Amino acid sequence: MPSRRSFIQKLGAVVGGTAFGTVSTVLSPQMLKAAERVATWKPQEVASDEAFWYEVRQAFTTSPNLINLNNGGVSPSPRVVQEAVESYNRLSNEAPTYYMWRVLDANREALRMNLARLAGCLPEELAINRNSSESLETIIFGLPLQRGDEVVLTKQDYPNMIQAWKQRVLRDGIVLKWVDLDLPTEDDKYVLEKFEEQFTEKTKLVQITHMINWTGQILPARKIANMAHKRGIEVLVDAAHSFAQINFKIPDLDADYLGTSLHKWLCAPFGSGLLYVRKPLIKKIWPLFGAVEPEGEDIKKFEHLGTRSIAIEQAIGHAINFHDFIGAERKEARLRFLKNYWAEKVAQMPRVKLLTSLKPQYSCALAMFAIEGKEPSEVDQFLFNKYKIHTVAITWENIKGVRVTPHLYTSLADLDRLVTGIEALTKS
Ligand SMILES: Cc1ncc(COP(=O)(O)O)c(C=O)c1O
Repeated sequence: MPSRRSFIQKLGAVVGGTAFGTVSTVLSPQMLKAAERVATWKPQEVASDEAFWYEVRQAFTTSPNLINLNNGGVSPSPRVVQEAVESYNRLSNEAPTYYMWRVLDANREALRMNLARLAGCLPEELAINRNSSESLETIIFGLPLQRGDEVVLTKQDYPNMIQAWKQRVLRDGIVLKWVDLDLPTEDDKYVLEKFEEQFTEKTKLVQITHMINWTGQILPARKIANMAHKRGIEVLVDAAHSFAQINFKIPDLDADYLGTSLHKWLCAPFGSGLLYVRKPLIKKIWPLFGAVEPEGEDIKKFEHLGTRSIAIEQAIGHAINFHDFIGAERKEARLRFLKNYWAEKVAQMPRVKLLTSLKPQYSCALAMFAIEGKEPSEVDQFLFNKYKIHTVAITWENIKGVRVTPHLYTSLADLDRLVTGIEALTKS
């Protein structure tokens, strides 16, 4: 339970100046007052304090003309992060090679240290890049594998990763062993058995999607990883949705490799991500882009991406400040509170089926529902056309429904409108 003092210290981090004093990081006095008021409360108590979250909402610049409940796709950045990108970008344009490479990029190691603190690992284990796809595909394409070696993954994993693994099948003759999960589930034993069934003497790596993007199902990643490690199988975790949405540190998962986007739940600028590689394993992973020492032990060998936006990269630090200011536990509690708020109501409605467990260990912000007799696209379009609510219709493998993802700025009034819309549909 963070003390009042640590909350106020974190406020200091957000309010404090930044390089060049050009970025306005000052949150509103009302926001600071609201934060002070709840500083000693338990996260669960803050989760339902609308007055506090009203002030948090003011830190975002989201459209008043649309209720965005597809935050699972990508998160909006709070104003402080947007302003940092704009400011660093303007500075970069004054003399790109000087300001980008000599001035802004000089803060890269400080950023790496900040990210390492957030992730609970060593800075030397983190590479800063552009998204989960880049992180995870660095491992997928960089892991030395022989013809016939096996990799275990699920049919419910993200398409980019599945496509990358299939490409390795074509190029290198590796073998994919598929876990097909019946979701939702509240049974860890079932999940473990499904993975274990696919492990053989030839299995070299298992890919675990920590939070399944389609339905929000949280998998028991650590238990699967422990089981794999006992058999000498390495573990790659896709943490695109879990990182900075649920409160955990990378070592909690016992992963060898982990990739995430920072433009999802950290609310960092679009096109920011990180890759974690357990230190002794860095050496054996080939970088996607050539490096001076491709077989070296320096994590920076994964950062030879060519010219990219240093403004985006450096603004990640402001997103970390904002995340720290809210507090990881408070954030998780609020997101789960919002999900439960709408999901518990619609679960009672005739013809509505919830496709996500409401138990806290199995879901957080993301949840999926279906209406008997309605196609997901019909539901999605109805909600948008009649209520200006933006959701996402999903049909993937054995999953069919509409995913709803609120965010920190979502109001209860927004969710009431969603519930009204779903109810209207069930009656049509
Ligand atoms: C589970 C999962 N993995 C990977 C990704 C890819 O993320 P990005 O597009 O940021 O690379 C996504 C994107 O939604 C995802 O949901």
